[in-house]
Amino acid sequence: MSSLGKAGLEDVVVSTSDICFIDGREGRLVYRGFDVDDLAAHSSFEEVVYLLWHGGLPNKKELAAHVKAMRSTANRKIPPKMIQMLRALPKKTTPMEVLRTGISALSAFDPDAADNSREASVRKALRLTTQMPTLVAAWERIRHGKAPVAPNPRLSHSANFLYMMFGKKPTPLAEKTFDVALILHADHEFNASTFAARVTAATLSDMHSAIVSGIGALKGPLHGGANEQVMLMVEKIKSPATAGAWIRKALADKARIMGFGHRVYRVEDPRAKHLRRLATELGEQAGNTDSVRILDTVAREVTADKKIYPNVDLFSGAAYKTMGIPTDQFTPIFAMSRVAGWAAHVLEQHGNNRLIRPRAEYTGATRATYVPVDQR
Ligand code: SDX
Repeated sequence: MSSLGKAGLEDVVVSTSDICFIDGREGRLVYRGFDVDDLAAHSSFEEVVYLLWHGGLPNKKELAAHVKAMRSTANRKIPPKMIQMLRALPKKTTPMEVLRTGISALSAFDPDAADNSREASVRKALRLTTQMPTLVAAWERIRHGKAPVAPNPRLSHSANFLYMMFGKKPTPLAEKTFDVALILHADHEFNASTFAARVTAATLSDMHSAIVSGIGALKGPLHGGANEQVMLMVEKIKSPATAGAWIRKALADKARIMGFGHRVYRVEDPRAKHLRRLATELGEQAGNTDSVRILDTVAREVTADKKIYPNVDLFSGAAYKTMGIPTDQFTPIFAMSRVAGWAAHVLEQHGNNRLIRPRAEYTGATRATYVPVDQR
């Protein structure tokens, strides 16, 4: 048996993949060969979904067909019985619990549920990618006693989500900001939630089950849940004037500061600069950049003190909050993007599969004698 590695599978390479490359030393992120900086500047989330699943950028005809499928109401809508199910949930149910439950339930209505072929899995992946925003937005409306807003096939993936959330079309800046945020969160190699999805797919389980595994893993505050925790920290700090003293005390108390550090990046996460810029642009448009100013002070102190750097979760919440998105919807939005990456990895795993089954270095007893309970 191979020797026991570092805790948390740190630096363990478990298989090859040609979906996503991370250079932790240079701070580079690449999807199917394309640097995420270029994709953030020139692409769209709809196009990145195609890139992740099919391995290359689509030509005009391919992109038009893909966008048409992503925007069709047939793929975006969720069944009325699902809406009834949502209405039956306690209003205090968190959006991530609703997402985990809703995606699982959607398999019961999916015509391809029992078909694990690549073609059927791509159809399911597209429906899941386009139904997730509908599910997230529907819960946002229902938990506040409002009727869900039906998807609008004339709107892009990002504009349609904001339209379903707020009942009105977003500004071009909000649509672009949100779309770049989705591009930046779409994939990240074998992060915890993606690996959870691959382990599930490696048993030859189905797309819905693998995505539910990913959602469960992403929910944790050490992973996707960090962006929500960052904004709760900003709310505690209150103003830029008090940010320095607050973070210095937190560091002195050895607190774990959400939005910083990474298992792979040894420099700043390349996504953070884009999200900081987007949060700043939105804040300037709204006339309030306090959240970014607070986070800049926090980043200066944390990096100077701990030599750890901002990750993807530090500024995303500041951008979402300026768009009026509630804090507990930040991680569901992360999932709405990462579902594209999860699906790409499920397709890759199914395409060249072997059951993922590591070993443990057993440290317990091996020959215990059974003693009847009345003699213990
Ligand atoms: C995401 O894997 C991915 O790719 C994930 C992700 C993706 O796109 O899928 O990038 C998305 O999950 C980003 C990370 C979001 N999580 C957070 O922001 C939570 C705060 N970050 C930390 O919990 C931590 O940095 C992790 C979980 C991200 C990484 O943890 P590791 O690699 O297990 O590092 P560690 O916890 O062993 O820490 C190493 C040292 C420790 O110091 P010592 O105890 O050795 O003295 O660094 C310190 C830690 O105390 N440290 C921190 C810290 N992160 C690490 N100290 C304070 N605050 C932090 N955030």
